[in-house]
Amino acid sequence: MSRLDTFISRMSAQRDILNHVAHDLGLPPEGAILEVGLGNGRTYSHLRQLFPDRRIVAFDRALNAHRTTLPQGDDFVLGEINETGRNFAGSEAALVHADIGTGYPESEAVIMSWLPQIVADMLQSGGVAVSGLSLSHPQLQELQRLPTVEEGRYHMYRKI
Ligand SMILES: C[S@@+](CC[C@H](N)C(=O)[O-])C[C@H]1O[C@@H](n2cnc3c(N)ncnc32)[C@H](O)[C@@H]1O
Repeated sequence: MSRLDTFISRMSAQRDILNHVAHDLGLPPEGAILEVGLGNGRTYSHLRQLFPDRRIVAFDRALNAHRTTLPQGDDFVLGEINETGRNFAGSEAALVHADIGTGYPESEAVIMSWLPQIVADMLQSGGVAVSGLSLSHPQLQELQRLPTVEEGRYHMYRKI
């Protein structure tokens, strides 16, 4: 698979899964959405379309999103997510979307050593996590993969 194929597979998995969460799975009625890794803001923009009435808080170490999709004020949290994310423990989020993979197994192993606990702590019970990296945590129950999503490409969990 070329890097272009891998990129397209990741993008379509993100869109398919976020659409599935909005249209089929559903979220708890209250609670914010946390976008872990704002990047260019493409998935942030998609989340805003899917969930126009929810607060969406985005995290990144730099603000590089397209100006049409910039989070305003307190809805952007600048810094290292393994530090800033801890301030959102107990925030009872309804959905956490994390797209902070690097494509390098050694650095992804480091991220996977802290990300699952931070995501689990951010979510309310019944909340949903969607992540490019697998999240191994006793409170995060993996949901069935969509048929359109390549195995191992993107993951979906419900907090128990
Ligand atoms: C792949 S991009 C996200 C792309 C985004 N989903 C989009 O649609 O544009 C990952 C982003 O996460 C940020 N990031 C990765 N690891 C981080 C960390 N530990 N702390 C803060 N930001 C991080 C990077 O700066 C980058 O902007």
